[in-house]
Formats: sequence, C-alpha cells, structure tokens
Amino acid sequence: MQFNLAVLPGDGIGPDVANEGIKVLQAIGNRFGHNFNLQYRLIGGVAIDKEGTALSPDTLKMCKGDDAVLLGAVGGPKWDDPQAKVRPEDGLLALRKGLGLFANLRPVKVFPVLIDSTNLKPGVIEGVDFIFVRELTGGLYFGRPKRQWQTSRGRRAVDTLTYSEQEIERIVKVGFELARGRRKKLISVDKANVLESSRLWRQVATEVAKEYPDVELEHMLVDACAMRLIQNPKYFDVVVTENTFGDILTDEASMLAGSMGMLPSASLAGVPQEGVNIFGMYEPIHGSAPRRAGLNMANPIATILSVAMMLRYSLGLIKEAQTVESAVDGVLQQGYRTYDIMDEGKTKVGTKEMGDLIAGKVGG
Ligand code: IPM
Ligand code: MG
Repeated sequence: MQFNLAVLPGDGIGPDVANEGIKVLQAIGNRFGHNFNLQYRLIGGVAIDKEGTALSPDTLKMCKGDDAVLLGAVGGPKWDDPQAKVRPEDGLLALRKGLGLFANLRPVKVFPVLIDSTNLKPGVIEGVDFIFVRELTGGLYFGRPKRQWQTSRGRRAVDTLTYSEQEIERIVKVGFELARGRRKKLISVDKANVLESSRLWRQVATEVAKEYPDVELEHMLVDACAMRLIQNPKYFDVVVTENTFGDILTDEASMLAGSMGMLPSASLAGVPQEGVNIFGMYEPIHGSAPRRAGLNMANPIATILSVAMMLRYSLGLIKEAQTVESAVDGVLQQGYRTYDIMDEGKTKVGTKEMGDLIAGKVGG
C-alpha cells in the first residue's frame, strides 16, 4: 500500500529521534511491501528562524492532505524569552487545533525488562499497563480571554478554563471506546469539588456512561489521582481528563515506565474504533532536550513506539504495529540501553544504534 506522511522533526533532539522513527518505518515498508511517501516540513523554533512563524499555513495545509503526521519535538532556550511574540510551542498548539486533534492517547506500559531501572519499587510497578486520554484542543490551553495587561496596581494576567458539553462528550467517548477493548474500567479525572467546568465534565461523563453499560465509570479528583498514580498505579486502566490535568499527570505517569524516553503518543481527530483509520499526529511525549541535541544520545524508543501507534490508528496496519512493538521489546531483552535507561551489566548504545537494532529486528 501507498501512504503519504508529513514529517516534522522540529527542534533539539526532535530530528535525532524522528530519523530513527523513519528508519524503523522504512524497515516496515521493506518487509511488508508498503510505500511511505514522506514530506519533511519545519515546525517550532526552526520554523520561526526560517519561515518567521512556528507553523506556516503551507505546512498546516500539507499536513491536512496527508494520512498522518510524525513529529519530533519543539522548543529550546533560544526561543524561550517570555516577551517573545511567537514561541515554538505555538506551532504545536496550532497544529493540534488546526488538525482537530482533540484526543491525545498516552499509553503507560512498564516493560518487564526495565522494572529494575525505575526509581519505584518493582512490586508497585510490575504489570502496570494503562492509557491516558487527554483532551487536547480545549481547556486552559485555548480558552479566551488569555492575556496579560497593566493595571494601576501592577500587572495582571488571565487564562480561561472553558469546555462545551460537545467537547467533553467526544473525548469521554474515546475513553469509553478504549475501555471497552480493555479491562472495561474508565476513570474520569476532574476537580469537581472546586471547578465549574469540572462539574459539567462530571455530568456529561455520567450521561455518556449510559451508552456504555458494560464499562464501569469512576470519577476521581485530580489531586487524588496524582497520589494514586504513585501509590497504586496498577489500579488504572483507561483514564480520561481535560487538557492541563492530562499534561501534568502524564509527565508523572511516565516515570512509572522508567523514562520519558519510552512513552509514545497519538493525537487523533476522531474516536478510535477497530477497522476505522483515523487521521492523527504522532509524537514522543518527551520534549526537545536541547542539551542532548545532535549528540547521538537521546532515546528514540518513544518515537519508534509512536510510529507503531501511527501504523495502528491511522494506517490500519495492525500486524505491522505489533512487529515494531515486539522489535522494541526484543532489543531491550537483548540488553541494549540508551543512557536514560542504562543499568548495570547492560550495553549502552546511542540514538542511531538503537534505531539500527530495532529496524534490524523489524527486518526479520
Ligand atoms: C506535551 C507538552 C506540550 C503541552 C508543550 C510542548 C506545549 O508538554 O505535549 O505534553 O503542554 O501540551
Ligand atoms: Mg507535557
């Protein structure tokens, strides 16, 4: 089959890891006879430098015509001035909004071979396997008003946390659909004891639950969820939450898997259902780690696993997705590690070597 993909490597280690994701994708193409037609574009800081904007209208338009988008990372100290008119992150937010990618899936899975390299007790994290569904195009990130101004008594700023019932309904449905294919337990995270938007969230989630009698719905307050994630992570199966809570909780949850360098993500424009291909953007959950850029150090596994998610959700290539996932597992089992997951007695490799090893395994 033939697919058109946009590749937006971005800043910092973004290009380092995106290269390895593409390497593995090409190995899949060779083995299974698919042709991936790749178009590279700029996003983030590099786009600000070369195109004067973090995401050009052209790039956005091109992405819309493709089957899926693979993204590295955006941001860096060079563009971090709080006074700056445009920031690399604006490019990412514009892409999410412009492509209607309201559902951000972030699976948190502990690889058995990495259990000893995390900071948590093996007994607590062994067998952890859940998925976060983060709302991605609403809430505090996009609500208006959003600005800073001068008053007679000093500066003031506002951000707005707003959700419509339609926005809540569609994201909660993603949670229910995923839960249906898993352990049939959905946790909806909010702050309904304080926030009005959360009270609406809770009402809508409860209404949608009537369409999914086979799935158990539990409401959990966000502070309690933060605590539970560390205390008993095995408790979770599918978690659905609003944009900002999801941003914070998924960084926390990534530590259960040993490193941010291990966690992939999918941002989808629809509700994932078996047999249906959904347009999506795929990126590692980690940032651009500018200090490690170009040093052949970064762990490419999060990006490679994001490629697997792309094969599964946007291209409908399930067997191919599984092939990538088992190749990652196989290479880890053989003892190869990047610096962030390095452990005694293991073999330390760089970004490219890790990509080569995984692509080699995919090749058969
Ligand atoms: C993430 C990142 C982004 C976010 C940043 C880079 C804008 O932290 O994908 O979690 O806050 O959504
Ligand atoms: Mg984040």
